[in-house]
Amino acid sequence: MIHTYKAKISGTGMYVPDDIVTNEDMAKIVDTTDEWITTRTGMKERRKAPPEMAVSDMAYKAALNALDTAGLKPRHLDMIIIGSVTPDHAFPSTACILQKRLGVKGFPALDISAGCPGWVYASDIARQYIENGICEHVLTIGADTLTKITNYTDRSTCVLVGDGAGATILSRAEKSDISNFIDSNIGADGNHYELLIQEAGGSRNPATEQTVRENKHTIFMEGNKIFKQAVKSMQYSCEILLKRNNLSINDIDFLIPHQANQRIIDMLGRKLKIDSRRVIVNIQKYANTSAATIPMALDEAVRNNKIRRGDMVMMTSFGAGLTYGSLLFRF
Ligand code: ACO
Repeated sequence: MIHTYKAKISGTGMYVPDDIVTNEDMAKIVDTTDEWITTRTGMKERRKAPPEMAVSDMAYKAALNALDTAGLKPRHLDMIIIGSVTPDHAFPSTACILQKRLGVKGFPALDISAGCPGWVYASDIARQYIENGICEHVLTIGADTLTKITNYTDRSTCVLVGDGAGATILSRAEKSDISNFIDSNIGADGNHYELLIQEAGGSRNPATEQTVRENKHTIFMEGNKIFKQAVKSMQYSCEILLKRNNLSINDIDFLIPHQANQRIIDMLGRKLKIDSRRVIVNIQKYANTSAATIPMALDEAVRNNKIRRGDMVMMTSFGAGLTYGSLLFRF
């Protein structure tokens, strides 16, 4: 029997490694400057995981944080979904590894490969399971260690990336709850998949000495083309949500866009005609942490009391695929 419940965000958490890499540090590695990185991207520093730290280690810490703020224990979870392009292993899923770390079992645990919108995709899926009554509490995580798949001789990508994990608990909302998950959409245009790709390591180009020598296990990106697609797809995805819910941009208290480039964020803000004071940005501190940017920015904004219960929050992302997606919450 299908039930219809409402979902809500009951907890948020994040984790970033301690090691801070500044723009000045990047200028010692490649031919770049603090001035170029700051004006072209808005980034000032990023975090870097130590060699022994994998995505599940960061996800675990973010998950404990989110469970804590939700007032829940791991045993209360009904599902774990992790969005990541840098899983611990090609298989098993990082979500299964996290299940073991959390000391739980007996429910679905899966990874989503959707590039930077990985957490948006995960939350859209979790929403369906909560609304149809199958799950009560779902842990959704966006976590990536892009620094582990970065070519540190390619100045056009290596300055952009950082490591981090963001987690949320999506729970069944009570009728009396002010918080609820209003709507979401996810989408993709696979015609542009080659613009942002880790070419080797899969079944198309299995790992060989040559693929390693040619840096084919690192991020390849056509930055300029991605830039244009990014603005277009996030605008499109946000406008679907506004229209479908009879809302205007003035009804949105806060927009949390994917943190890939300050200029992308500014251009999106102008297209949507949203006051920049209502756009949450932390790109200067963490750079692009891929699937983690939005849940990390949400967690920070909640902890800083910027986003409060009852605020209308729209989140939007784009990335490798090319994928995109947006969520609309009354927090
Ligand atoms: N330092 C100094 N100069 C640089 C650097 C650098 N770090 N990187 C590139 N340049 C140079 C280029 O070589 C080029 O020089 P040239 O004119 O002599 O050829 C010049 O700067 C301009 O290069 P552009 O690529 O046109 O610079 P642009 O302003 O487009 O910025 C950037 C590049 C930052 C990559 C931008 O295109 C961007 O942000 N694109 C979107 C990236 C993105 O969001 N990707 C998706 C997520 S990434 C992921 O998920 C892994």
